[in-house]
Amino acid sequence: MVKPIQVVVTGASGFVAKNLRKYLSENDVNLISISRNNFRTYKNEQKIISKDYKEKFILNKIKNSNALIHLVGIGKQSVEIDYEMINVELTKHIVNLAKKAKIKKIVYNSGLGVSSKTSVGYFISKYKAEKIIVNSGLNYTIFRPSYIVGKDDLFTKFLKKQIKIKTIEIPGSGQYSIQPIFINDVVKILFQSITEKKFGNKIIDLVGSEYLTFEKYVKLFCRGNKIKIKKVNLENTYYNAINNKKSNFGIDDLNILVGDFKGNYNQLEKISQIKFESVVELLKSGRLL
Ligand SMILES: NC(=O)c1ccc[n+]([C@@H]2O[C@H](COP(=O)([O-])OP(=O)(O)OC[C@H]3O[C@@H](n4cnc5c(N)ncnc54)[C@H](OP(=O)(O)O)[C@@H]3O)[C@@H](O)[C@H]2O)c1
Repeated sequence: MVKPIQVVVTGASGFVAKNLRKYLSENDVNLISISRNNFRTYKNEQKIISKDYKEKFILNKIKNSNALIHLVGIGKQSVEIDYEMINVELTKHIVNLAKKAKIKKIVYNSGLGVSSKTSVGYFISKYKAEKIIVNSGLNYTIFRPSYIVGKDDLFTKFLKKQIKIKTIEIPGSGQYSIQPIFINDVVKILFQSITEKKFGNKIIDLVGSEYLTFEKYVKLFCRGNKIKIKKVNLENTYYNAINNKKSNFGIDDLNILVGDFKGNYNQLEKISQIKFESVVELLKSGRLL
């Protein structure tokens, strides 16, 4: 009998992790999932609850797993928790844990737009995390995702809320573009990356085939319902992001949107051989609502 593979997932309660754990569990992968808070487990899943990923508490439990998928990350910072602590230092700690636990493969979600030339704080931290992983000696797959769309992602939830009040506010002109990818495709690719050799030691854009303006995306999301689309002055939106912790868009959310990043979809399609779901069709179908 073939021995089932065992995979460690960090940041287990996050949007990508939740969808991924369900998919891996359905595909008979043994899971060891780590989160700061309690959560419900799937079939073949052990949970570890840890606020700080302390070695003493974790190392023995994850020893000799086949792969570790590191999904901890933040996209907004504060005085208490900043990018350097979580995106950089915690990644360094997780890489060391993986090495000590004799786990040979690590998978990481960086971000579309990360490059050595970036001046955006969020991307700089992801760039540093990428370097730590690339230089670790572990077999790695680093993905650079654009916006990952699902029923339960933050932006979808935010749009649904605004639909209820019949007005959706969009920052600035809305003419900058995004290249969304559906979470159901993302989890398949993450699974491939731990089982197929061709993903080894690669950095791959995780993007959909369609590149559309933010305004078009929002209009498709509304599906012809009578929702007012209100364009909010970009200066005001940045002002809010800078001065109000609870603003809908964080500073780096806006930087990413305005940055208009486009990824290499052809490379992803070629390596995964997956026929991706069209996000435009997905929006038209109303399956996200
Ligand atoms: N979703 C996207 O469109 C997108 C796009 C580009 C890149 N990414 C990257 O993909 C990864 C997963 O994204 P996601 O959308 O699933 O994000 P998410 O829902 O915010 O989940 C991230 C998880 O990170 C953990 N975390 C956050 N702050 C932490 C802290 N201070 N200490 C320890 N753990 C902490 C939490 O896990 P627990 O609550 O379980 O502790 C949280 O649920 C992230 O690295 C993100 O940057 C996502």
